[in-house]
Amino acid sequence: MPELTLEGVRATVPPGTTVLAALQNAGLSPLRHSLSGGARGALCGMGSCYECRAVVDGLTVRSCLTPVREGQDVWRLEVNCDG
Ligand code: FES
Repeated sequence: MPELTLEGVRATVPPGTTVLAALQNAGLSPLRHSLSGGARGALCGMGSCYECRAVVDGLTVRSCLTPVREGQDVWRLEVNCDG
């Protein structure tokens, strides 16, 4: 099973899991907040809305389309941006 890091915490998840599912299963929700402070998270689950953006190995990706891989470093967008 792939072992990755979710906001600095090591996690092992089943192969085939999406980064979105890994974040949600780890309780890392919401994924970010809007400028007005509203909680934001995945809407479509199929790559259309871009609401599930997360940072994987320094790149912003749609987490609902991104499978977990060994050694990934995953951050929610706002956590990464705000330090
Ligand atoms: S949940 Fe809509 S693009 Fe990922």
